[in-house]
Amino acid sequence: MSTLKAVRGTRDLLPPETALWNRIEAIAREVFARYNFGEIRTPIFEDTSLFARGVGEETDIVSKEMFTWEDRSRAQSEKNQSLTLRPENTAGVVRAYIEHKLGESGQLQKLFYIGPQFRRERPQKGRYRQFSQIGAEVIGPPHAGSESPLRDAEVLEMLATLLDELGITGWTLEINSVGSSADRERYNQTLREALVPVVGQMCEDCQRRAVTNPLRVLDCKVPEDQPIIDALPKIVDSLDEDSKTHFAAVLAALDAAEVPYTRNHRLVRGLDYYTRTTFEFTHGGLGAQNALLGGGRYDGLSEAIGGPKAPGIGFAMGEDRLVLTLLAQQQAEPVKNDAYIAPLGDAKDQAALARMNAAALALARELRRAGLSVELGDGSFRLKKSFEAADKVARRIVILGEDELASGILTVKDFASGAQTKVPRAELAAILARPAGA
Ligand code: HAM
Repeated sequence: MSTLKAVRGTRDLLPPETALWNRIEAIAREVFARYNFGEIRTPIFEDTSLFARGVGEETDIVSKEMFTWEDRSRAQSEKNQSLTLRPENTAGVVRAYIEHKLGESGQLQKLFYIGPQFRRERPQKGRYRQFSQIGAEVIGPPHAGSESPLRDAEVLEMLATLLDELGITGWTLEINSVGSSADRERYNQTLREALVPVVGQMCEDCQRRAVTNPLRVLDCKVPEDQPIIDALPKIVDSLDEDSKTHFAAVLAALDAAEVPYTRNHRLVRGLDYYTRTTFEFTHGGLGAQNALLGGGRYDGLSEAIGGPKAPGIGFAMGEDRLVLTLLAQQQAEPVKNDAYIAPLGDAKDQAALARMNAAALALARELRRAGLSVELGDGSFRLKKSFEAADKVARRIVILGEDELASGILTVKDFASGAQTKVPRAELAAILARPAGA
């Protein structure tokens, strides 16, 4: 029989790396709480039309990358339903905002999510078919202040804080404004005209985009097309006064908060719902897939999927890419247990072995109940093997032999200092709780 493997583009996350994932999520939750965000959990699959209408039919995500299936009807009277594994979470959050009438509270909704997303992309380092996003959205009726540039700047300042607290160094915030939908239409027209004389020299994708959605030409990565694209008109020059003022206010608030940024005129993002502010945080260590996170404003998304006017701004971070970056920065020292308990048995004396193992379990229970993390060895191991095993997973080893059991004085070795000491059982938990070497 052939062996079964995880499906292409998906992977198993294993210890010790999963500890890093949990640490990232714990820090994110803690930062979100400080900024008054609450958690939302939306379903992993949704009606396909949510993404078609929300993210946009013409985007790569919707036209090529979605995992979609026809779900069989359960009754004759029902039609089949087209369902899709969510390729991103913003459309689902806005659907939930509309469905639960969250706007009627009159308050800004500040929601965060952590969970898997699915895109049928060509797998490579930092790009998977199932990946995890940590994201957040700020959305509400205009009278709640949802359109204010302060919201954009606050989200960006939170991201700078979050990346710093995660220990990610060397990130760059790239920012742009794609204007209102009217600005974008005007810019699309300007681009369409500007492309006429040059599009013949461009790649096939650009030739198609020049007709269907000229803005997407700016996403092109084909090296030969780059000088042509750089010479095209810039979107900032098509913004109306409102959009210009909004963008200037976002940048001024970032300056005041001392959040560094770089303007990127080509940053139009790959999803159609964006209006005004768009941004990405990139990291040089990631290679081709260098976006740690992306986001922006989506002032018309709610209406596009049948809801009330509800401007919003948000972002999603690629958690897989945060892990890769931290691993590359080598800040991912595996967390060690407080203690390894090594019972000393005699493999030939089954009764004595069982007694020592049982005593070791009782000691482990005592220490774990005191809040310590403990790994438990086995009395059949030779002492050398116990030491080797302990050094890999714990900061200290506790030796439990017949003498120790009788006297209640245990032998403890600290791997960091190399010191070996005798410790009365009553003091053991307090000693093991100390940092390594102390
Ligand atoms: P996005 O730029 O499509 O935006 O994805 C955000 C982040 O998810 C990317 O910067 C990247 O780190 C990660 N990511 C995307 N695709 C993959 C993949 N195949 N493998 C690994 N990581 C990936 C959105 O999804 C928007 N919903 C963000 C947003 C929220 N805009 C407003 N609110």
